[in-house]
Amino acid sequence: MDVPSTKHILTNCLIVSVISTIVIAQIPQRYSLPPNVCTLKETCHECIQTPSCSWCFDPDYINSPRCFQPSTSLQPNALCPEEYVFNPDNVLSVIENLTLSETGGIYAGSGSIEESGSGTFSGSVNSGSGGIPEVPKRIVQVSPQRLHLKLRARQSDRFTMSYKQAQDYPLDLYYLMDLSSSMHDDKENLSKLGNKLVLTMKNLTSDFRLGFGSFVDKVVMPYVSTLKQKLQHPCEICVAPYGFRHHMSLSINTHNFSTEVDRAQVSGNLDAPEGGFDAIMQAVVCPEIGWRLQARRLLVFSTDASFHYAGDGKLGGIVKPNDGECHMDNNGYYSQSIYQDYPSIEQINLSIRKKSINAIFAVTNSTISIYRELAKSIEGASVGVLEGDSSNIVDLIVEQYKKISSTVSLKHNASSAVSLKFFSSCLNPDGILLNTNECSGLRVVGDTVDFKVEIEVLKCPKNPKDHFQTIQIRPVGINETLIIDLEMLCECPCEKNGQRNSPRCSSAGTYKCGVCDCNPGAFGTKCECHTGGDIRNVTMNCINPNTTVECSGRGDCVCGHCVCRERPNKLEMITGKFCECDNFSCERHNGKLCSDHGECICGKCQCNPGWKGSNCACQDSTDSCKPATLKGDTLCSGAGTCECGVCVCNVTDNGRFTGKFCEKCPTCGDRCLEFKDCVRCQQYKTGPLKGNECGSNCTLFIPVPAKEPVVANEENGEVLCHYEDEEGCRFNFIYFYDEKQVLVVKAQEQRDCPPTVHIPAIILGVIAAVVLIGLAILLLWKLLTTIHDRREFARFEKEKMMAKWDTINGENPIYKQATSTFKNPTYSGKGNPCAQKRDFTYTVSILNYLDQSSVD
Ligand SMILES: *[C@@H]1O[C@H](CO)[C@@H](O)[C@H](O)[C@H]1NC(C)=O
Ligand SMILES: *[C@@H]1O[C@H](CO)[C@@H](O)[C@H](O)[C@H]1NC(C)=O
Ligand SMILES: *[C@@H]1O[C@H](CO)[C@@H](O)[C@H](O)[C@H]1NC(C)=O
Ligand SMILES: *[C@@H]1O[C@H](CO)[C@@H](O)[C@H](O)[C@H]1NC(C)=O
Ligand SMILES: *[C@@H]1O[C@H](CO)[C@@H](O)[C@H](O)[C@H]1NC(C)=O
Ligand SMILES: *[C@@H]1O[C@H](CO)[C@@H](O)[C@H](O)[C@H]1NC(C)=O
Ligand SMILES: *[C@@H]1O[C@H](CO)[C@@H](O)[C@H](O)[C@H]1NC(C)=O
Ligand SMILES: *[C@@H]1O[C@H](CO)[C@@H](O)[C@H](O)[C@H]1NC(C)=O
Ligand SMILES: *[C@@H]1O[C@H](CO)[C@@H](O)[C@H](O)[C@H]1NC(C)=O
Ligand SMILES: *[C@@H]1O[C@H](CO)[C@@H](O)[C@H](O)[C@H]1NC(C)=O
Ligand SMILES: *[C@@H]1O[C@H](CO)[C@@H](O)[C@H](O)[C@H]1NC(C)=O
Ligand SMILES: *[C@@H]1O[C@H](CO)[C@@H](O)[C@H](O)[C@H]1NC(C)=O
Repeated sequence: MDVPSTKHILTNCLIVSVISTIVIAQIPQRYSLPPNVCTLKETCHECIQTPSCSWCFDPDYINSPRCFQPSTSLQPNALCPEEYVFNPDNVLSVIENLTLSETGGIYAGSGSIEESGSGTFSGSVNSGSGGIPEVPKRIVQVSPQRLHLKLRARQSDRFTMSYKQAQDYPLDLYYLMDLSSSMHDDKENLSKLGNKLVLTMKNLTSDFRLGFGSFVDKVVMPYVSTLKQKLQHPCEICVAPYGFRHHMSLSINTHNFSTEVDRAQVSGNLDAPEGGFDAIMQAVVCPEIGWRLQARRLLVFSTDASFHYAGDGKLGGIVKPNDGECHMDNNGYYSQSIYQDYPSIEQINLSIRKKSINAIFAVTNSTISIYRELAKSIEGASVGVLEGDSSNIVDLIVEQYKKISSTVSLKHNASSAVSLKFFSSCLNPDGILLNTNECSGLRVVGDTVDFKVEIEVLKCPKNPKDHFQTIQIRPVGINETLIIDLEMLCECPCEKNGQRNSPRCSSAGTYKCGVCDCNPGAFGTKCECHTGGDIRNVTMNCINPNTTVECSGRGDCVCGHCVCRERPNKLEMITGKFCECDNFSCERHNGKLCSDHGECICGKCQCNPGWKGSNCACQDSTDSCKPATLKGDTLCSGAGTCECGVCVCNVTDNGRFTGKFCEKCPTCGDRCLEFKDCVRCQQYKTGPLKGNECGSNCTLFIPVPAKEPVVANEENGEVLCHYEDEEGCRFNFIYFYDEKQVLVVKAQEQRDCPPTVHIPAIILGVIAAVVLIGLAILLLWKLLTTIHDRREFARFEKEKMMAKWDTINGENPIYKQATSTFKNPTYSGKGNPCAQKRDFTYTVSILNYLDQSSVD
């Protein structure tokens, strides 16, 4: 039982250790940069503007490059003394980090921090609970407040920034009201609702101040009727029109609000849009309004009409652009109303942003869409729908205030050379970090939101003055900031106090950080070279157009010429105009440069005579590709190629040639046909190969004459070939490979030819024979007939002599008259007088030949 479990553990251990070895082995590869990123940098500031590169400014340091990567290249680091290595790192120091305030408190905004005189300390004592004046304390909602950061280019740094809304944070609310006649009912409702507004707001924060201002429009045609009577009383209940009037500064005497609103009187104008932008600008910038330094600032802008903006002033002949300054007379009126044009949206945006004011546009349904658009262009602005009679104004303000204060959105003013990124999980501390600068849903007080800020110098600015920057990060609508004093580590200190015209630089350059910064016209690592013209032409001389690397990376460009580096092995040399050649990087064979049969010249083997191939491993001679006994050019038995002195045999459809000279082919069938012609011409001097052809075409073998070639040894691969030529002569030969793999052909000494025949003689003989035989037959026939005739004659004679009938009748008894006579019995000679008596005589001749012998 024990054994398998131990085995198991061992196996597991082995696997784990193997895996961890693999993982460990891969770590350095994954995290190291390509080393030449550093080594290509030639000056100290270029070097340290590259992440993770270090500069060695030791004057006696000879190993170039001076810019190296300390983590990977241990060699230069070891050679450069520690005190001469310049490798600055990011340094973050916290200059101010006050803890976040829990409460604002009603004293916070009063006294010393307050800008304007309105609202006195005594007032706060009255409304405060303590009664004993407390030391004014600063409210902290953003932490830390100030950082000093030294940053190297493209090496980002991170820190955490917290935002917390303090309880009872001071709140300033300036109510800016359109008092054109259409707003008459609103004004009345507002004055009625004033106290409710104050109570509700005080419920949200105990430190609440309220102010009030109103506007109509520029008192110029065509905005306002300038008829004298209309100018006095545009309508029955109207007072004279005005541009903007500041009624009541931000004050803790909030109960004055209702009275002030009540006291204000509506006025009248002509066109629908109103001069609200003039009023916003004055309300934002004028110190008389009394914005506190540390407070949430709300500017409630209530109207039922749209607005005039920059450029509209031209209608009334006003061309002077708005200067964005405060122009308020002693009575609280805007004095430049008829001299300056309306401000632009961008001007409003800018001044509102500078003052960290949240604008709330409380507008009626009829114009809500245009104000929604306007709010998009103004930082921190929001829009609420106002009832026609402003009856919902309190709810609207509370709702917008809660919306504003439950959201934190961070803004910064870093230049484009610096990248700032915010990451936050907002109110969910365990949640994932999102790339966002905004968190919403904060409860009115108490929630802390952490933002991880990632800051990175993307590129060192050209101007050294820009290496120091002050960056401000602030929540929208809150006058609290995190200030970062950023120092970009873009320069080396040793570069600042270089030694001018140093002897180390041939008195033609400034020696700094261990290298020479040559004066114009001089160049070279020690400024030892001089040129009248463009230095680029000189360095171009060192750059192989094929590679674009100076001196192929294996030498130094000295005064426009490459000085190639030396090798530890003195026999190894780098040469060439661009150090592009060397005598040690040629092809090797079995570890030997050019197989020891050649010279390495500029990366190519130059082979000794008798050798060839890219690595000189091939013998030039083909002698080893054919049996030594044979003359002629046929290599590898004609069934293969001679490569590098070795036969590479063909593979044909018939089979595969083998053997040292490709002489064997067990599956190829015999080679009788191939050898036939040569055997014929060499042995019998016949066949298609004539004269010289025989000598040149037949190089594989010389036939050995044999009396009667027979296959004596079948195992030897002897093959018997049997042919009959066109002369009808037969001949045999055998071929085989002897023990030296030499082809041996044994051919029959003489052909077996049939005896010769004379055909014309035969034909003549036959003809003569036929003629003679014919003659003989004719003679014989003649002889026989003659004999027969004689014999007949003799018999005739004998019979004649024996015959007696001749004397009795004088007639031959067997002779019959050859003529017969007949008479027509019906013919009488009457009837026809013309008829002549005629006798027909039929003569019948009968040749009656009687054979004498038949009579016998
Ligand atoms: C600021 O101080 C708080 C504690 O008061 C600390 O948690 C925070 O890390 C500090 N911030 C920095 C940037 O040091
Ligand atoms: C003030 O707030 C409390 C609790 O939040 C609420 O009960 C009270 O009605 C509020 N008062 C006013 C005037 O809104
Ligand atoms: C505001 O009220 C205070 C007393 O609470 C009074 O002294 C002051 O004159 C009033 N201001 C205005 C502008 O009515
Ligand atoms: C913001 O507050 C600081 C003091 O904390 C003050 O110097 C500065 O003027 C304020 N900025 C504005 C726009 O009120
Ligand atoms: C506001 O006006 C839109 C059309 O302009 C209308 O659909 C909507 O009902 C109005 N809302 C109110 C509360 O009057
Ligand atoms: C208003 O200011 C913000 C912050 O600077 C800016 O992002 C925005 O573009 C400005 N709006 C306009 C219309 O210029
Ligand atoms: C607002 O004024 C109108 C008419 O002037 C009136 O009918 C209405 O009740 C007022 N609303 C409030 C909340 O006072
Ligand atoms: C950012 O704003 C601060 C305060 O207004 C200013 O001192 C600083 O120069 C600004 N930084 C940049 C980069 O504009
Ligand atoms: C540099 O090279 C360019 C083009 O080859 C040539 O026109 C120029 O005259 C050269 N300058 C010097 C100083 O040799
Ligand atoms: C550049 O490459 C071409 C083609 O590879 C070659 O012919 C030429 O010699 C090379 N030039 C140098 C300077 O090496
Ligand atoms: C066999 O090799 C010889 C010699 O290289 C070549 O001439 C011939 O074409 C080859 N035959 C075949 C069938 O590949
Ligand atoms: C002899 O060899 C030559 C070339 O080697 C060739 O052209 C010629 O055809 C050959 N003769 C015969 C009869 O095969």
